[in-house]
Amino acid sequence: MRDEEKLRAYFTGAPSDVCLEDIDLARIPRHVSFIMDGNGRWAQARGMARSKGHVAGVDSLREAVTTSVRLGIDVLSAYAFSTENWRRSHEEVDLLMHLFAKTLIHEMPLFHQENVRLVFLGDISSLPRQTYDVFCQGLDETRDHDGMTFALAVNYGSRAEIARAARNIAMEVASGTLEADAIDESVIAGHLYTQGLPDPELLVRTSGELRLSNYLLWQLAYTEIFVTDVLWPDFSKWDYLRAIRAFQARNRRFGGVDTA
Ligand code: IPE
Ligand code: IPE
Ligand code: MG
Repeated sequence: MRDEEKLRAYFTGAPSDVCLEDIDLARIPRHVSFIMDGNGRWAQARGMARSKGHVAGVDSLREAVTTSVRLGIDVLSAYAFSTENWRRSHEEVDLLMHLFAKTLIHEMPLFHQENVRLVFLGDISSLPRQTYDVFCQGLDETRDHDGMTFALAVNYGSRAEIARAARNIAMEVASGTLEADAIDESVIAGHLYTQGLPDPELLVRTSGELRLSNYLLWQLAYTEIFVTDVLWPDFSKWDYLRAIRAFQARNRRFGGVDTA
Protein backbone atom coordinates (compact mmCIF):
# COMPACT_ATOMS: atom_id res chain seq x y z
CA MET A 1 0.00 0.00 0.00
CA ARG A 2 1.40 3.39 -0.99
CA ASP A 3 1.85 5.96 1.75
CA GLU A 4 1.20 9.28 -0.04
CA GLU A 5 2.77 11.41 2.66
CA LYS A 6 6.00 9.41 2.74
CA LEU A 7 6.00 9.35 -1.05
CA ARG A 8 5.89 13.14 -1.37
CA ALA A 9 8.52 13.62 1.31
CA TYR A 10 10.78 11.08 -0.44
CA PHE A 11 10.65 12.95 -3.75
CA THR A 12 11.31 16.48 -2.50
CA GLY A 13 14.22 18.43 -3.97
CA ALA A 14 13.64 17.29 -7.55
CA PRO A 15 16.09 18.21 -10.32
CA SER A 16 14.82 20.60 -13.02
CA ASP A 17 13.82 17.99 -15.61
CA VAL A 18 11.78 15.47 -13.61
CA CYS A 19 9.52 15.39 -10.56
CA LEU A 20 6.88 13.22 -8.95
CA GLU A 21 4.11 15.24 -10.62
CA ASP A 22 5.29 13.92 -14.01
CA ILE A 23 4.08 10.48 -12.97
CA ASP A 24 0.52 9.20 -13.08
CA LEU A 25 0.30 7.38 -9.75
CA ALA A 26 -2.75 5.47 -10.95
CA ARG A 27 -0.64 3.83 -13.67
CA ILE A 28 2.46 2.73 -11.82
CA PRO A 29 3.77 -0.56 -13.28
CA ARG A 30 3.17 -3.57 -11.04
CA HIS A 31 6.52 -5.17 -11.77
CA VAL A 32 9.68 -3.25 -12.64
CA SER A 33 12.87 -5.13 -13.47
CA PHE A 34 16.47 -3.91 -13.65
CA ILE A 35 19.55 -5.15 -15.46
CA MET A 36 22.04 -3.45 -13.17
CA ASP A 37 24.94 -2.90 -15.56
CA GLY A 38 28.00 -0.66 -15.68
CA ASN A 39 29.59 -1.13 -12.26
CA GLY A 40 32.98 -1.98 -13.78
CA ARG A 41 32.99 0.98 -16.14
CA TRP A 42 31.93 3.32 -13.35
CA ALA A 43 34.95 2.24 -11.29
CA GLN A 44 37.37 2.24 -14.20
CA ALA A 45 36.36 5.79 -15.12
CA ARG A 46 37.48 6.80 -11.64
CA GLY A 47 40.75 4.86 -11.79
CA MET A 48 39.42 2.37 -9.25
CA ALA A 49 39.20 -1.41 -9.21
CA ARG A 50 36.01 -2.96 -10.65
CA SER A 51 35.13 -4.17 -7.17
CA LYS A 52 34.58 -0.57 -6.03
CA GLY A 53 31.90 -0.28 -8.68
CA HIS A 54 30.08 -3.31 -7.30
CA VAL A 55 30.26 -1.87 -3.78
CA ALA A 56 28.88 1.46 -5.03
CA GLY A 57 26.16 -0.41 -6.93
CA VAL A 58 24.75 -1.71 -3.65
CA ASP A 59 23.73 1.84 -2.71
CA SER A 60 21.83 2.20 -5.99
CA LEU A 61 20.03 -1.07 -5.38
CA ARG A 62 19.04 -0.03 -1.86
CA GLU A 63 17.69 3.22 -3.28
CA ALA A 64 15.79 1.32 -6.00
CA VAL A 65 14.20 -0.89 -3.32
CA THR A 66 13.11 2.12 -1.27
CA THR A 67 11.87 3.99 -4.35
CA SER A 68 9.86 0.94 -5.42
CA VAL A 69 8.26 0.64 -1.99
CA ARG A 70 7.43 4.36 -1.90
CA LEU A 71 5.84 4.20 -5.37
CA GLY A 72 3.76 1.18 -4.38
CA ILE A 73 5.30 -1.21 -6.91
CA ASP A 74 4.30 -4.83 -6.23
CA VAL A 75 7.37 -6.57 -7.59
CA LEU A 76 10.91 -5.30 -8.06
CA SER A 77 13.35 -7.66 -9.72
CA ALA A 78 17.04 -7.13 -10.37
CA TYR A 79 19.73 -9.05 -12.24
CA ALA A 80 22.74 -9.34 -9.95
CA PHE A 81 24.72 -12.29 -11.34
CA SER A 82 24.18 -14.30 -14.51
CA THR A 83 25.07 -17.91 -15.29
CA GLU A 84 27.63 -16.39 -17.68
CA ASN A 85 29.21 -14.15 -15.02
CA TRP A 86 31.18 -17.18 -13.72
CA ARG A 87 33.50 -16.47 -16.67
CA ARG A 88 34.92 -13.48 -14.78
CA SER A 89 38.11 -13.66 -12.75
CA HIS A 90 38.08 -15.74 -9.61
CA GLU A 91 38.75 -12.55 -7.59
CA GLU A 92 35.74 -10.72 -9.02
CA VAL A 93 33.37 -13.68 -8.59
CA ASP A 94 34.60 -14.18 -5.04
CA LEU A 95 34.13 -10.54 -4.20
CA LEU A 96 30.60 -10.52 -5.59
CA MET A 97 29.61 -13.64 -3.63
CA HIS A 98 30.90 -12.08 -0.42
CA LEU A 99 29.24 -8.79 -1.23
CA PHE A 100 25.88 -10.50 -1.79
CA ALA A 101 26.05 -12.22 1.59
CA LYS A 102 27.30 -9.15 3.46
CA THR A 103 24.72 -6.87 1.84
CA LEU A 104 21.84 -9.18 2.56
CA ILE A 105 22.74 -9.40 6.24
CA HIS A 106 23.13 -5.64 6.40
CA GLU A 107 19.82 -4.92 4.63
CA MET A 108 17.59 -7.28 6.62
CA PRO A 109 16.35 -4.43 8.88
CA LEU A 110 15.21 -2.55 5.75
CA PHE A 111 13.28 -5.58 4.51
CA HIS A 112 11.61 -5.95 7.90
CA GLN A 113 10.88 -2.25 8.23
CA GLU A 114 9.41 -2.01 4.72
CA ASN A 115 7.64 -5.39 4.84
CA VAL A 116 9.57 -6.63 1.78
CA ARG A 117 9.45 -10.32 0.84
CA LEU A 118 12.65 -11.61 -0.67
CA VAL A 119 12.77 -14.28 -3.38
CA PHE A 120 15.60 -15.45 -5.62
CA LEU A 121 15.58 -16.18 -9.32
CA GLY A 122 18.22 -18.69 -10.37
CA ASP A 123 19.99 -21.72 -8.97
CA ILE A 124 21.20 -20.46 -5.61
CA SER A 125 21.97 -23.96 -4.31
CA SER A 126 25.24 -24.01 -6.26
CA LEU A 127 26.51 -20.75 -4.79
CA PRO A 128 29.31 -20.78 -2.21
CA ARG A 129 28.03 -22.20 1.08
CA GLN A 130 28.12 -18.97 3.09
CA THR A 131 26.23 -17.02 0.44
CA TYR A 132 23.67 -19.80 0.07
CA ASP A 133 23.11 -19.97 3.83
CA VAL A 134 22.59 -16.21 4.10
CA PHE A 135 20.16 -16.30 1.17
CA CYS A 136 18.16 -19.10 2.80
CA GLN A 137 18.01 -17.13 6.01
CA GLY A 138 16.77 -14.08 4.06
CA LEU A 139 14.05 -16.22 2.46
CA ASP A 140 12.99 -17.62 5.82
CA GLU A 141 12.94 -14.30 7.63
CA THR A 142 10.87 -12.48 5.02
CA ARG A 143 8.55 -15.30 3.93
CA ASP A 144 5.52 -13.79 5.69
CA HIS A 145 6.08 -10.20 4.59
CA ASP A 146 3.19 -9.12 2.40
CA GLY A 147 4.40 -5.77 1.09
CA MET A 148 6.57 -5.60 -2.01
CA THR A 149 8.29 -8.69 -3.42
CA PHE A 150 11.96 -8.20 -4.21
CA ALA A 151 13.24 -10.85 -6.63
CA LEU A 152 17.01 -10.94 -6.90
CA ALA A 153 18.41 -12.89 -9.84
CA VAL A 154 21.63 -14.61 -8.82
CA ASN A 155 23.22 -17.42 -10.85
CA TYR A 156 20.30 -16.78 -13.16
CA GLY A 157 20.18 -17.56 -16.88
CA SER A 158 16.98 -17.60 -18.84
CA ARG A 159 17.93 -20.54 -21.06
CA ALA A 160 18.93 -22.61 -18.03
CA GLU A 161 15.61 -21.63 -16.41
CA ILE A 162 13.62 -22.79 -19.45
CA ALA A 163 15.61 -26.06 -19.70
CA ARG A 164 14.93 -26.69 -16.00
CA ALA A 165 11.23 -26.05 -16.51
CA ALA A 166 11.17 -28.48 -19.46
CA ARG A 167 12.95 -31.13 -17.36
CA ASN A 168 10.52 -30.74 -14.46
CA ILE A 169 7.50 -30.80 -16.73
CA ALA A 170 8.83 -33.93 -18.49
CA MET A 171 9.25 -35.65 -15.12
CA GLU A 172 5.67 -34.84 -14.17
CA VAL A 173 4.42 -36.27 -17.45
CA ALA A 174 6.58 -39.38 -16.99
CA SER A 175 5.24 -39.92 -13.48
CA GLY A 176 1.65 -39.49 -14.66
CA THR A 177 0.82 -36.36 -12.64
CA LEU A 178 0.54 -34.19 -15.77
CA GLU A 179 -0.98 -34.89 -19.21
CA ALA A 180 1.23 -33.86 -22.14
CA ASP A 181 -1.86 -32.30 -23.72
CA ALA A 182 -2.30 -30.04 -20.69
CA ILE A 183 1.03 -28.26 -21.20
CA ASP A 184 0.15 -24.69 -22.06
CA GLU A 185 1.72 -21.29 -21.44
CA SER A 186 0.53 -21.14 -17.85
CA VAL A 187 2.06 -24.56 -17.07
CA ILE A 188 5.41 -23.40 -18.44
CA ALA A 189 5.18 -20.06 -16.56
CA GLY A 190 4.36 -22.03 -13.42
CA HIS A 191 7.65 -23.93 -13.68
CA LEU A 192 9.88 -20.88 -14.03
CA TYR A 193 11.67 -19.24 -11.10
CA THR A 194 9.19 -16.36 -11.45
CA GLN A 195 6.18 -18.59 -10.79
CA GLY A 196 3.40 -16.63 -9.14
CA LEU A 197 4.85 -13.24 -10.11
CA PRO A 198 3.34 -11.02 -12.80
CA ASP A 199 5.53 -10.44 -15.88
CA PRO A 200 7.57 -7.24 -15.75
CA GLU A 201 5.83 -4.28 -17.33
CA LEU A 202 9.00 -2.22 -17.43
CA LEU A 203 12.61 -3.37 -17.88
CA VAL A 204 15.36 -0.85 -17.20
CA ARG A 205 18.89 -1.54 -18.36
CA THR A 206 21.64 0.83 -17.29
CA SER A 207 24.96 1.60 -19.04
CA GLY A 208 23.53 1.74 -22.54
CA GLU A 209 23.83 -1.88 -23.71
CA LEU A 210 21.04 -2.86 -26.10
CA ARG A 211 20.72 -6.54 -25.21
CA LEU A 212 19.01 -8.86 -22.75
CA SER A 213 22.08 -10.90 -21.74
CA ASN A 214 20.01 -14.06 -21.11
CA TYR A 215 17.57 -12.33 -18.74
CA LEU A 216 13.88 -13.30 -18.43
CA LEU A 217 13.49 -14.22 -22.12
CA TRP A 218 10.04 -15.75 -21.56
CA GLN A 219 8.75 -13.17 -19.09
CA LEU A 220 9.80 -10.11 -21.13
CA ALA A 221 7.63 -11.02 -24.14
CA TYR A 222 5.60 -7.78 -23.94
CA THR A 223 7.66 -5.73 -21.51
CA GLU A 224 8.50 -2.10 -22.29
CA ILE A 225 12.28 -1.66 -22.39
CA PHE A 226 14.02 1.49 -21.19
CA VAL A 227 17.76 1.76 -21.72
CA THR A 228 19.70 4.58 -20.10
CA ASP A 229 23.37 5.49 -20.47
CA VAL A 230 23.56 6.13 -16.73
CA LEU A 231 25.89 3.59 -15.11
CA TRP A 232 24.29 1.54 -12.33
CA PRO A 233 26.21 3.14 -9.40
CA ASP A 234 24.93 6.55 -10.58
CA PHE A 235 21.31 5.41 -10.98
CA SER A 236 19.10 7.44 -8.63
CA LYS A 237 15.45 7.73 -7.68
CA TRP A 238 15.22 10.52 -10.27
CA ASP A 239 16.44 8.18 -13.01
CA TYR A 240 13.80 5.74 -11.78
CA LEU A 241 11.13 8.44 -12.22
CA ARG A 242 12.46 9.20 -15.72
CA ALA A 243 12.09 5.51 -16.61
CA ILE A 244 8.51 5.38 -15.34
CA ARG A 245 7.64 8.61 -17.12
CA ALA A 246 8.95 7.12 -20.39
CA PHE A 247 6.99 3.91 -19.71
CA GLN A 248 3.78 5.88 -19.19
CA ALA A 249 4.26 7.65 -22.52
CA ARG A 250 4.41 4.34 -24.41
CA ASN A 251 1.54 2.95 -26.40
CA ARG A 252 1.25 -0.72 -25.43
CA ARG A 253 -0.66 -2.60 -28.10
CA PHE A 254 0.04 -6.25 -27.27
CA GLY A 255 -0.33 -7.14 -30.93
CA GLY A 256 -3.68 -5.37 -31.30
CA VAL A 257 -4.44 -2.01 -32.88
CA ASP A 258 -5.00 1.39 -31.31
CA THR A 259 -8.50 2.00 -30.11
CA ALA A 260 -7.97 5.67 -29.24
C1 IPE B 1 27.06 -5.22 -13.56
O1 IPE B 1 28.16 -4.43 -13.80
C2 IPE B 1 27.22 -6.10 -12.35
C3 IPE B 1 27.39 -7.53 -12.65
C4 IPE B 1 27.28 -8.09 -13.82
C5 IPE B 1 27.69 -8.38 -11.52
P1 IPE B 1 29.39 -4.96 -14.66
O2 IPE B 1 30.36 -5.62 -13.74
O3 IPE B 1 28.90 -5.82 -15.77
O4 IPE B 1 29.99 -3.61 -15.20
P2 IPE B 1 30.56 -3.34 -16.66
O5 IPE B 1 29.49 -3.73 -17.64
O6 IPE B 1 31.78 -4.18 -16.81
O7 IPE B 1 30.84 -1.88 -16.68
C1 IPE C 1 24.22 -8.65 -17.34
O1 IPE C 1 25.33 -7.85 -17.37
C2 IPE C 1 24.19 -9.44 -16.06
C3 IPE C 1 23.97 -8.65 -14.86
C4 IPE C 1 23.73 -7.37 -14.81
C5 IPE C 1 24.01 -9.40 -13.66
P1 IPE C 1 26.68 -8.33 -18.09
O2 IPE C 1 27.64 -7.22 -17.93
O3 IPE C 1 27.09 -9.66 -17.59
O4 IPE C 1 26.21 -8.49 -19.59
P2 IPE C 1 27.05 -8.49 -20.95
O5 IPE C 1 28.21 -9.41 -20.74
O6 IPE C 1 27.48 -7.08 -21.19
O7 IPE C 1 26.08 -8.97 -21.97
MG1 MG D 1 28.35 -5.42 -17.68
